[in-house]
Amino acid sequence: MKSIHDDVAKILISKEEIAKIIEKLGKQITEEYEGKNPLILCVLKGAAPFATDLFRNINTEAEIDFVQISSYGLGTTSGALKIKRDADAELEGRHVIVVDDILDTGNTLNYFCGYLRSKNTASVKLCVMLDKRERRQADIEADYIGAVVPDEFIVGYGLDYAEKYRNLPYVGVLKREIYE
Ligand code: IMP
Ligand code: MG
Repeated sequence: MKSIHDDVAKILISKEEIAKIIEKLGKQITEEYEGKNPLILCVLKGAAPFATDLFRNINTEAEIDFVQISSYGLGTTSGALKIKRDADAELEGRHVIVVDDILDTGNTLNYFCGYLRSKNTASVKLCVMLDKRERRQADIEADYIGAVVPDEFIVGYGLDYAEKYRNLPYVGVLKREIYE
């Protein structure tokens, strides 16, 4: 039987390493946000595993909400962006932590963080599992980073290729023959 694991060229971050990274980030956020009741904004769909695991590692009062951003164009990051699903919570005065799977060109999160600041939030910080910094276009950096990754096509732990591979429990590089 064909397995989704067969399409992975190499594992970049194992399940065990992910757990350690999240524990560390959770500790850091717990210390820095004690008493601030931060609002964790999980960017769907890719950040779902990361944000929910991270949330369970924040050991102080905190809330979680889910947003979705999409481009008007056909899947490219160059198209105009829109908020497909906004937070339910009132954003004014909140300490927001945007949690996403990967910071690539940075265009999506640059747009979204700008939107959040326009809502008179108390603070906006960005936490990403992966930073593909070689590809950056927008003037944005993350405040909390799980790991820096090379400019390769990455899947797993929430990241997809055509909606597949999000359920891989590790972060890996997709075999070229799958998408070429
Ligand atoms: P941006 O280029 O920083 O705006 O990234 C937009 C989105 O593209 C990310 O949130 C991911 O969902 C997706 N993305 C970027 N790089 C990869 C990758 O290597 N694999 C899978 N999805 C990616
Ligand atoms: Mg995404």
